[in-house]
Amino acid sequence: MASKNQTLGEFIIENQSSFKYSSGELSRLINSIRLAAKVVNHEVNKAGLVDIIGAVGDTNIQGENQQKLDVYANEKFIRTLTNRNIVCGIASEEEENFITINSQDENHQNKYIVLIDPLDGSSNIDVNVSVGTIFSVYRRVTPVGTPVQLEDFLQKGSQQVAAGYIVYGTSTMLVYTTGDGVNGFTLNPAIGSYYLSHPNIKFPENGTIYSVNEGNYNHFPQGIKNYIKYCQKEEGNRPYTSRYIGSLVSDFHRNMIKGGIYMYPKSSKSSNGKLRLLYECNPMAFLAEQANGKASNGFTRIMDIEPTELHQRVPFICGSKNMVNKAEEFMVTAK
Ligand code: AHG
Ligand code: MN
Ligand code: MN
Repeated sequence: MASKNQTLGEFIIENQSSFKYSSGELSRLINSIRLAAKVVNHEVNKAGLVDIIGAVGDTNIQGENQQKLDVYANEKFIRTLTNRNIVCGIASEEEENFITINSQDENHQNKYIVLIDPLDGSSNIDVNVSVGTIFSVYRRVTPVGTPVQLEDFLQKGSQQVAAGYIVYGTSTMLVYTTGDGVNGFTLNPAIGSYYLSHPNIKFPENGTIYSVNEGNYNHFPQGIKNYIKYCQKEEGNRPYTSRYIGSLVSDFHRNMIKGGIYMYPKSSKSSNGKLRLLYECNPMAFLAEQANGKASNGFTRIMDIEPTELHQRVPFICGSKNMVNKAEEFMVTAK
């Protein structure tokens, strides 16, 4: 039984046997993410103190300005997962191609691959606003013992075996699912342990918060414009409150706890929106569904979308079930 003073380490051991494919490998994987997250957390917390913030000068393969902490977090997560010889492949938002992990051991039996957004919301670092890390885990589809292939990474979200995020916020939290509900653990920085603080998190079915970058309003599809107008209308429990941090992890986390909807629609400027299917939308969709919420591109369930490329973007609507249903109604009607 999960209890509130349980540490993440204890929780992982206790729940290992309830995971149907359990061999301890997934537990070791979550453990590595927990470790890397602690190191990144330490660095993120220092960001205002040392001359570490600011652009490295590189642009990542999405053409975005890369901050130093993006690079740092990317390296830390990749190195931790690689050195501990737990996964057979990694794909990162910050890397053009996926990484194949060759074990020194010729009976290399690792069967999991990880996809990661090492630092989400990175434009917020300079101004001391919460950022996060998002991860997603799949079982490889090609035979164990052979090098991973692109098809191992291009799986539908419904095939995920685990997903989660770390939010480096006023408290640092690790929130994850292995397909049996969503649990949240808060880091006690004095001790360096995560404690189960939010067992079995569920989205309220209805909410009163909507999160969208309204600066792009004029470029949104008509269905989204109509839904935003609906959110703002004086009727019943409306108008809703608008809250948009610009860090998906933080916006999602707040909406999951309080009840709300997050939208990053397509626009006339970007035909598939901005968020990446594999690194951002699928893991958040898995968490949302496991927490009784919903995630859609406006018409289709996110986790049913067949990926075609590693850095693919999709429109994303995610949150309290009834709110997402309502937004979908507006999308279909305006089509
Ligand atoms: P990343 O920092 O990994 O590139 O992700 C930023 C994403 C997401 O976290 C956030 O919700 C969104 O970009 C904000 O985009 P806009 O500034 O266009 O609203
Ligand atoms: Mn991101
Ligand atoms: Mn990122």
